[in-house]
Amino acid sequence: DPVATPDMSSCGPPDQLPPSANVLTCCPPPSSASPVDFAPPANASSSPLRTRPAAHSAGADYVAKFNRAIAAMKALPADDPRSFAAQASIHCAYCDGSYSPDGFPGLDLQVHNSWLFMPFHRCYLYFFERILGSLIGDPTFAIPFWNWDAPDAMSMPAMYTDQSSPLFDPRRNGRHVPPKLIDLDYNGREPRFTDNQQVDHNLRVMYRQMISLSPTPSLFFGSPYRAGDDPNQGPGPVENIPHGPVHIWCGDPEQPAGEDMGNFYSAGRDPLFYAHHANIDRMWAVWKGLDPRSHTDLTDPDWLDASFLFYDEDPKLVRIRVRDVLDMDRLRYRYQDVPTPWTSARP
Ligand code: C2O
Repeated sequence: DPVATPDMSSCGPPDQLPPSANVLTCCPPPSSASPVDFAPPANASSSPLRTRPAAHSAGADYVAKFNRAIAAMKALPADDPRSFAAQASIHCAYCDGSYSPDGFPGLDLQVHNSWLFMPFHRCYLYFFERILGSLIGDPTFAIPFWNWDAPDAMSMPAMYTDQSSPLFDPRRNGRHVPPKLIDLDYNGREPRFTDNQQVDHNLRVMYRQMISLSPTPSLFFGSPYRAGDDPNQGPGPVENIPHGPVHIWCGDPEQPAGEDMGNFYSAGRDPLFYAHHANIDRMWAVWKGLDPRSHTDLTDPDWLDASFLFYDEDPKLVRIRVRDVLDMDRLRYRYQDVPTPWTSARP
């Protein structure tokens, strides 16, 4: 059976927090109504296509608009499910043991380290983006993606590093500001690469994770995780690397648990999280495009019918299933088309 929608009334203290975390609850604000089933945007005219831009090449007008949207979200009180604080807590709730899968009170629900990783985060970004758009009255608004897989985008995008911006987070690694290039398989030790070597290394990492290690859907998405299973059955190659290392590279090593980006409970507090995850989400689409005949979504009903709870922009509580989010056209968003030079970087 699929991992069932968590029962919100069972949301409790997160029992997987690092000892240093000063957090009592990650539960979403309660809803008086029961969840409604997700319905995709009705049609193209009521829901224009949103094109997520590459963060490094976004223009000043876009950056100003995005700043306004995040500022508006941060201005909402924490008990509003659309607030930045509540959005950040979603990650903690689904990743640090606040929920048990419905029917299994003794188990923690965990959306990482399994085939739920890609679809859960797609849902998360989908609602986050729509809330931002609604706060600024722009139904075309789309969040940016940080395409760390391209040579000209391997530093932290500048819009996030302006200390006067709501996109800034002080809990980051102070040595990893632009023009420092990211190391896509960073393990906490600084590699001794020249910039050219780092770019070359990163492209080979991408080739290895996206192509060599991901020839089939079951390898790409990660291990099955079904009702009653212990969590953490095993991540897919992209969740493992570069997803994890990018988190660690961004977080502040001076903080006890690598906050913010370097730990599940705090990662959603850094606005950069959503740009990182937009690129992870884009990798799902890129992977499918690399070989449309064999790179398909999974067809196992236990994957397709797994479901999660989110608040939408109204805000109303929505139950969304994996099968609802396989088609980006249907969700009315896409990614700006940018090069993927690692496809020819065979190690
Ligand atoms: Cu839910 Cu990047 O982790």
